[in-house]
Amino acid sequence: MSDDSGLSCILGIETSCDETAAAVVANGAAVLSSVVSSQVDLHARFGGVVPEIASRAHVELLTPVVAEALVEAGLDGAGIDAVAATVGPGLVGALLVGVSAAKAFALVWDVPFVGVNHLEAHLYAAFLEEPSLAPPLIVLLVSGGHTLLVAMEDHGRYRVLGSTVDDAAGEAFDKVARFLGLGYPGGPAIDRVALEGDPRAIAFPRAMLDQGHDFSFSGLKTAVINHVRANPDVRVEDVAASFQEAVVDVLVTKARRAAAEADVKAVCLAGGVAANSVLRERFLDACMEDGRQGFVPSRSMCTDNAAMVAAAAWHRLRLDGPTPLDAGAYPNLGLPFS
Ligand code: KG4
Ligand code: ZN
Repeated sequence: MSDDSGLSCILGIETSCDETAAAVVANGAAVLSSVVSSQVDLHARFGGVVPEIASRAHVELLTPVVAEALVEAGLDGAGIDAVAATVGPGLVGALLVGVSAAKAFALVWDVPFVGVNHLEAHLYAAFLEEPSLAPPLIVLLVSGGHTLLVAMEDHGRYRVLGSTVDDAAGEAFDKVARFLGLGYPGGPAIDRVALEGDPRAIAFPRAMLDQGHDFSFSGLKTAVINHVRANPDVRVEDVAASFQEAVVDVLVTKARRAAAEADVKAVCLAGGVAANSVLRERFLDACMEDGRQGFVPSRSMCTDNAAMVAAAAWHRLRLDGPTPLDAGAYPNLGLPFS
């Protein structure tokens, strides 16, 4: 135990949506194991996540996933100093599976339980891979449920500068992919198909590009639908590439502006959409041009995983101490700010 709080190895559990994940992280920084079991195959034929199926799959998968995370880390329960789980935001039934399991492990091993905010966990993904990263920084958090521009002023101190007024960026990817018949999950499908398309083929709208830090993607989704209906022979590859270009343009322009206004040295990407190849490339190019440190976590660290949960838990434990065992699951939890 190298940390002065006496807590070093945290078992993290993530079940907020359709990934069942467990990981062991030492001192909030060293990933000893990270196991993610995706339920994509179970939900694909429904074109999206079915909450009841997700909850039942978490119940079946969580015990073996936790066991694998412990074995990979070379530990048993005696080596775990705290157990953390995502308490929200997410699907309530799915969250409850992870939260209940984490509390049970914490009770059996007689260690603290830590409830983690999923959005805060995404912010910590970058810190796991880039030890030199330090607040203050700007994070663009783009996932299936959220699109947030966040000023991280210190550990646990955030200011939400902007968010989406309608669809999240990942939601727009998923809905457009479904409309184009590209399947679920839509983000990776559009990313792949767009490689063969022309991003300048169709000039889709860039909503609110010059207006503050908020985002809007629902008009873009409608514009895609209207364009395809009016032009049934249009190449799907061109639609995908032009749609992706519009989303990336807005995301990068706004992140860049927020970083300039806050005058921070570092800017990060987080969340599942940060796995997008064009966004990653454009974001890093923009950071280099602006003379800021840009950091993009590896793809597996961008999408849901439990290492980020354990990392966020380590910082939360130091700030707030353990979470009471009567804490529940909070489907609409926002980013904690102070
Ligand atoms: O962070 P995440 O794994 O789960 C949530 O917390 O929502 O994000 C999932 C979202 C989905 O909407 C998915 O389509 C999107 O991330 N996504 C991508 C890519 N990979 C995943 N979007 C665009 N391009 C990708 N390569
Ligand atoms: Zn997520």
